Amino acid sequence: MNPVLDAIRNRRSVRAYEPRPVARALLMTIIDAANRAPSGMNTQPWRFVVVEDPELKNKLVQTAVPNSKRYLEPLRETNPARHAVIMKRYEELEDPVYYSAPAIVFVIGKGAYAADSCPLACQNMMLAAQSLGLGTCWVKLGSLILDNDELVRALELKQGETIFGPILVGYPKQIPEPPVKKDPVIKWI
Ligand SMILES: Cc1cc2nc3c(=O)[nH]c(=O)nc-3n(C[C@H](O)[C@H](O)[C@H](O)COP(=O)(O)O)c2cc1C
Repeated sequence: MNPVLDAIRNRRSVRAYEPRPVARALLMTIIDAANRAPSGMNTQPWRFVVVEDPELKNKLVQTAVPNSKRYLEPLRETNPARHAVIMKRYEELEDPVYYSAPAIVFVIGKGAYAADSCPLACQNMMLAAQSLGLGTCWVKLGSLILDNDELVRALELKQGETIFGPILVGYPKQIPEPPVKKDPVIKWI
C-alpha cells in the first residue's frame, strides 16, 4: 500500500542479473536518490563511479576474485557451512563477486562524515532501484581491488577516499527468497 514500505520490505540482495543494460536515465534517477540522502553537516561526502564497460568489469573480476577468496579464508574456521556455500558460488559462477551485473556503482566517500553518511546514500540508491523494478546488491567483496593500480586510476581513487558498496544494479534474473530477519530488539522507556 505504501510505496516506501513496499520497497523496504521487498528489496532483496540480487545475485543473478539479466545481461540487458540499465538505461542511463534510470541510473541517473537512482544516483539522484542517493545524492539526496542525509549527510553529516550536509557535506554529501560522496561521489559515484558507474562501471558498465565489459573490459573494465573483467579486470575488476580478475582482481576481486583472488582477493575476496583470501579475505574469506578465516570463515573456513569460524563458519565452515557459510564458507562452503560461498565457495560453491566461486566454482559455479563466471563472476562470483559482481554477479555479472550490467552496472556497478562505486560510492566513493571522503572525510569525517563519510563513514556515517555514505551508507545512507547506498541505501537510498538500493530502495530507489527497487521501486523502479531494478535489483541491487551491496558487494563489499567487490571493493577489494586497491592492489590493482589500473583500477585505482580508473576510479580516480585518491588518498583518504573509501569505497562504499560497490552497489550492483540490473534487472533481476532471479529474486532470492527473503532471508530470515530477527525481530528488532527494542526497549520502551
Ligand atoms: C556492508 C554489506 C556488505 C555486503 N557484501 C556482500 C558481498 O560482498 N557479497 C554478497 O553477495 N552480498 C553482500 N552483501 C549482501 C548481504 O549478504 C545481504 O544484505 C544479506 O544477506 C541480507 O539479505 P537481503 O539484503 O536480501 O535482506 C552485503 C551487504 C552489506 C550491507
